[in-house]
Amino acid sequence: MSTDNKTFRLTAPAIIGHRGACGHAPENTLASIRKASELGARWVEFDVHLSKDGVPILLHDDSLDRTTSGRGPVDEWAWKDLQRLDAGSWYATAFAGERLPDLGSVFALLGELGLGANIEIKPSPMREEETGRAVVEMLRAEWPDDLPPPLLSSFQFDSLRAAQLAAPEFDRALLVTGIPEDWESQLWALECVALHCAHTPLTPARIGEIISSGYAVRCYTVNDPERAADLLHWGVASIITDFPDRMNSLVAA
Ligand code: G3P
Ligand code: MG
Repeated sequence: MSTDNKTFRLTAPAIIGHRGACGHAPENTLASIRKASELGARWVEFDVHLSKDGVPILLHDDSLDRTTSGRGPVDEWAWKDLQRLDAGSWYATAFAGERLPDLGSVFALLGELGLGANIEIKPSPMREEETGRAVVEMLRAEWPDDLPPPLLSSFQFDSLRAAQLAAPEFDRALLVTGIPEDWESQLWALECVALHCAHTPLTPARIGEIISSGYAVRCYTVNDPERAADLLHWGVASIITDFPDRMNSLVAA
């Protein structure tokens, strides 16, 4: 990471797999992360919740219902019970038996595959700060040394604030759906490096305004290669996609 006394921060590439490669495999599982790598992605995005007993795990919803064999809020389940759930059958029988991964096992797989990560802090209600702290504690303890530094993001200001206070060294991005009036003051307060937003409201002028204020723009969830090409042409640093394979021609070496 360092040469000739100059330190380089390796930034996220143009294409990031969404929840792994969730167009091809059950989201937020080890299978989905492996699939993203097979399809040519160099980074993946995934969502982190906490179990009842504070173990960071990959899950999008506050509830287990949609994507696992469990029922109810994830933060009413201890990790020892979550480990037994099936997180693949809902997607396809070929993925039956896929487990909910804990963040430690995800870091190990990223290290094995050489994948970078945009880690979305996705707290259950009332656990915003705790989840932010738990993620950065795990990063400090277990992030593989030979991977590029991770990028944290969250829709929750309080999660990013907790991460900022506990471990300011990790890059942060504020996630938004529409771009709020006070986007710049929020980014400034959180010392963010980027704004991550839904791609639909983005225009070249809006992107230019954010970039000229000194922040990168990344957007989700872009599955149409023509739209992705436009966004990258307008200055978007990365697009987050369910189908990284569709985007390979945009970044051919
Ligand atoms: O981080 C980008 C994107 O994942 C944010 O939305 O709901 O898919 O987690 P969501
Ligand atoms: Mg996400």
